[in-house]
Amino acid sequence: MPDVTGHTRLFGILADPIHHVKTPQVMHEVFARHGIDGVLVPMHVAPAGLRAALDGLRAMRNFGGFIATVPHKPAMLDLCDAVEGDAARIGAVNCVRREPDGRMVGAMLDGIGFVEGLRGAGIDPAGARVLLAGAGGAASAIAFALAEAGAAGLTVVNRTEAKAADLAARVAAAYPGCAAEGRAEAGDVAGYDIVANATSLGLRPGDPPPLPVAELHAGQVVAEAIMDPEETPLLAAARAHGARVHPGLPMLRCQIELMARHMGALSAVPA
Ligand code: ATR
Repeated sequence: MPDVTGHTRLFGILADPIHHVKTPQVMHEVFARHGIDGVLVPMHVAPAGLRAALDGLRAMRNFGGFIATVPHKPAMLDLCDAVEGDAARIGAVNCVRREPDGRMVGAMLDGIGFVEGLRGAGIDPAGARVLLAGAGGAASAIAFALAEAGAAGLTVVNRTEAKAADLAARVAAAYPGCAAEGRAEAGDVAGYDIVANATSLGLRPGDPPPLPVAELHAGQVVAEAIMDPEETPLLAAARAHGARVHPGLPMLRCQIELMARHMGALSAVPA
């Protein structure tokens, strides 16, 4: 925990429940690395109190911004005064900057963190054919970020086919250069450069992989959005088939820096 003085800038993470959050420690490592005089504290806010909490934060002149997590990401979209990037298209905000005049500017960085994590490992989604499992909140953010990063094709596979079709249609409308389609069955799993899981399958012991794994091969990258466990059934199967495995943790690490930047905490640090 850094020393707190009258010069320290304040940041927060809003969640309900709050006890599980690990972000303060991780963000304080970022602040320490860059010599930033800031603290990020957990703020336990229930949905009914979200608007009132936000209005209070607007009035706090040494407050730089906050991270929004479960269950606040969709509601935060409407409560912000402005949003950047694909947040409106994704339908959620997970990081908010407080401007000096109290205006709140949101962004959705889940998907960008995933893409930066891939890039950090030397994997460039530009031109790639991607098979993405899932069409929920995390998958939507990742789908838009992959299209923004120049993926040539995106096939969304989801248990509820209508959600896959809807997500693919929204991505295709925003990024005509990305051939996007949605379905319930994965089809030719071997025909993709990157295979990614953004469903919740793999979080619980005994979960099956979200996709058929028999055709995975050494020419593919298989990536996870799940961080815990480190090796999901999908990654274990991918490894066994010789594919390059990309775990979920880099997504969080990259996102923390992106969040610090969005909140203005690193404004003095070159990107
Ligand atoms: P998150 O915010 O983590 O993305 P979410 O929006 O609830 O959470 O999305 C969960 C995703 O995991 C969805 O794609 C969901 O599929 P449905 O849209 O059909 O619900 C997928 N998922 C969750 N449990 C699943 C299961 N048992 N089998 C297949 N897909 C599952």
